[in-house]
Amino acid sequence: MVSAYQETQDAHENILRPKLLQDFLGQEALKQNLSVFIQAARDRADTLDHMFISGPPGLGKTTLASIIANEMHTEIKMTSAPALEKPKDLAGILTTIKEGSIFFIDEIHRLRPVMEEMLYIAMEDFEIDWIIGQGPAARTIRIPIPNFTLIGATTKAGQVASPLYTRFGITTRIGFYPQDELAGIIRRSAQILDTRIEPDAVIQLAGAARGTPRIANRLLKRLRDYAEVLGDGIITADIISIGLERLGIDRQGLEEQDRNILRAVINFYGGGPVGAETLAISIGEAIESLEDFYEPYLIQKGYLKRTPRGRVATQSAYDLLKIRKGDTSNENQGLLF
Ligand SMILES: Nc1ncnc2c1ncn2[C@@H]1O[C@H](COP(=O)(O)OP(=O)(O)OP(=O)(O)O)[C@@H](O)[C@H]1O
Ligand SMILES: [Mg+2]
Repeated sequence: MVSAYQETQDAHENILRPKLLQDFLGQEALKQNLSVFIQAARDRADTLDHMFISGPPGLGKTTLASIIANEMHTEIKMTSAPALEKPKDLAGILTTIKEGSIFFIDEIHRLRPVMEEMLYIAMEDFEIDWIIGQGPAARTIRIPIPNFTLIGATTKAGQVASPLYTRFGITTRIGFYPQDELAGIIRRSAQILDTRIEPDAVIQLAGAARGTPRIANRLLKRLRDYAEVLGDGIITADIISIGLERLGIDRQGLEEQDRNILRAVINFYGGGPVGAETLAISIGEAIESLEDFYEPYLIQKGYLKRTPRGRVATQSAYDLLKIRKGDTSNENQGLLF
């Protein structure tokens, strides 16, 4: 069973990753705004304002950051908050960054407070505070750093400290892609991979891609395998049906683990509310993958609700699993998986 959460990027993902804004398909409103901001900054020979990008995994946050660097004709330095262990890690990057370039911090919600404070000053004044000496002799000096654009990305916008969040001049959220936009991404990827896919197969695949380009690309590659081994190399609607069934994915992209989540809420916790941590343990899943990967799509599809007291299964979830509300015969049936 392939799990889509935090898949490491393979070589093909790099081939498929758009380099320019015009190849970044869908998200029209976001792209339009961004191209204005990029053009204005370029015309003024200025750096782009700091930018914050949030949204579920695989929707194009990292891609967008590297596109911005390309469009601004500048370099990009990429890191992720957990990799910045000590202030000197961050200071090392900020003092050596190229004038006008992009500094990308992934998972910015995981930045340690000392690093956040260093960033505040860096973002506003393009300086950093540096402590030299120790004990009573210690003193702070301000060191100028090159002008740069910080792009911060996160799957958890709610966990970013507000003093940090408010220092970004551009804030944007990438949402799930509608089916027609995913269809466009699949057609582009199929062309790059030199694979034939029939028009109705594109639509079907787009419907099963959880609104997520990364999943669309991954499914396309798996279905190409099925087409080559089981068929004549062309991805047809039949190949999609067979392939998705073998992968344990239904027509709307739900995996077995999605159904396990809904089943757990209904059978173990009477439909909810149940806390995320308890739910994660019940299905043997890490809390991060429950919250970042599975839940957003289940919520978007209307199967699950997040309430202050916990997760609640909706009527649609009962319908999907063919369980009648109030039917206790399903409860506590033991292991789910
Ligand atoms: N708008 C798009 N058009 C075409 N392809 C896209 C688009 N957005 C994403 N992709 C494809 O999906 C892949 C995953 O995108 P990306 O790595 O940028 O996601 P992410 O939001 O950074 O995910 P994570 O939160 O896991 O870091 C890219 O390599 C690219 O091939
Ligand atoms: Mg990323």
